[in-house]
Amino acid sequence: MCYTELNFARKSAVRGGVFKTMLNGKTVLLGVSGGIAAYKSASLASLLVKAGAVVDVVMTKAAQQFIGPATFEALTHRRAWDDVFDRADPSRVHHIDLAQNASLLVIAPATADVIAKIACGIADDMLTSTVLACTCPRIIVPAMNTHMYENDATQANLRTLRERGWFVMEPAAGRLACGDVGRGKMPEPDDIFEVIEHFACDTHDMEGERVIVTAGPTREALDPVRFLTNHSSGRMGYAIARAAADRGAQVTLVSGPVSLKRPRFVETVDITSAADMFEAVTSRFEQSTIVVKAAAVADYRPATVADNKIKKKDGDLSLPLERTQDILKTLGERRTNQFICGFSMETENMLENSRAKLVKKNVQMIAANNLKVAGAGFGVDTNVLTLITPDSCLELPLMSKEEAAHRLLDEIMKRKKA
Ligand SMILES: Cc1cc2nc3c(=O)[nH]c(=O)nc-3n(C[C@H](O)[C@H](O)[C@H](O)COP(=O)(O)O)c2cc1C
Repeated sequence: MCYTELNFARKSAVRGGVFKTMLNGKTVLLGVSGGIAAYKSASLASLLVKAGAVVDVVMTKAAQQFIGPATFEALTHRRAWDDVFDRADPSRVHHIDLAQNASLLVIAPATADVIAKIACGIADDMLTSTVLACTCPRIIVPAMNTHMYENDATQANLRTLRERGWFVMEPAAGRLACGDVGRGKMPEPDDIFEVIEHFACDTHDMEGERVIVTAGPTREALDPVRFLTNHSSGRMGYAIARAAADRGAQVTLVSGPVSLKRPRFVETVDITSAADMFEAVTSRFEQSTIVVKAAAVADYRPATVADNKIKKKDGDLSLPLERTQDILKTLGERRTNQFICGFSMETENMLENSRAKLVKKNVQMIAANNLKVAGAGFGVDTNVLTLITPDSCLELPLMSKEEAAHRLLDEIMKRKKA
């Protein structure tokens, strides 16, 4: 008998159609200094708010030459701070309060000037005073002209910050606002958001684990032009890879062809066919401690691959297909101490088929999803997973694939420790 877990401990719920994330309820201190990219920080603040974070913005005076506090106040629904001697509420010392309340600090954009001040421990305005009092994880996002960035002084200052535990996000390369082409562009808000999510994760129970995650479809060539494939978007596997990395694991993501951004903090191995996937996974299996197979690997491939394009003729065409190698079964046969979780995508008899798969493949868990359940399966951002082990069956409610990934890892870690 499966039970549906109603008492969902992780504070992530569906509210007004928006799925809350790992940042839900966390306080992010967003420092904005006086660079041309300051306008992009408004989008970053907005992303953080949508993710459920409380966002406190602290701006330098120079930042206000580029963007006004009213923009941040409208987006965050909170006061944007800029004056260390602000006298509005004498009962609080605001720079200390802000620092103490922060779950995470991110300075984006960080000017050469602000980087230099922080490296020297200068605290002569609201931003630098707050930063000096912060003890939370700290991310700095330099953005400036290439020569300013490559200047020995800036590089030495960034080295100092790295040595002191800051995460320095490398600027992107491209055409800069000043007209120069080179490194120094502030990364896009989406990319910064991904880094923030990584450092906002306060579960580090997977440190020391070496995890292989597979994701996406495979392509089985028919001729140089055509292939057989399926609708897998790769989103579930990518969410698992990211979640495991956020929790401290060393992650290798073996990915079929998808249109998703490569996750940061994860080694990604691109493959095309089921045979490539077999090789990529089995060659790494011995060194791994956990394998989660979320890819939709082709069960059959064309028996022969034509050297030239198969020409259209009158009448029907039959394609002889042959079985691909069964990766999950092979891992089940070879497993020593690894925890293996397979996925099953069903359209009928989901529980029965998934239980049979668990036994047949000799693995410890099957994460089953039914393509016919609303919000589950391919292409969507949500899933409805049922986690089946030899002695349990946990039916998770509809949730984002990110949350489902964490729940799946929770269950794996619980069983690994038992
Ligand atoms: C139009 C303009 C654009 C600027 N862009 C940058 C920039 O992208 N990065 C940077 O480090 N400095 C930039 N500066 C210089 C800084 O604004 C200047 O060093 C300022 O003192 C920084 O103050 P803050 O660090 O307190 O914000 C720019 C200046 C101007 C006038």
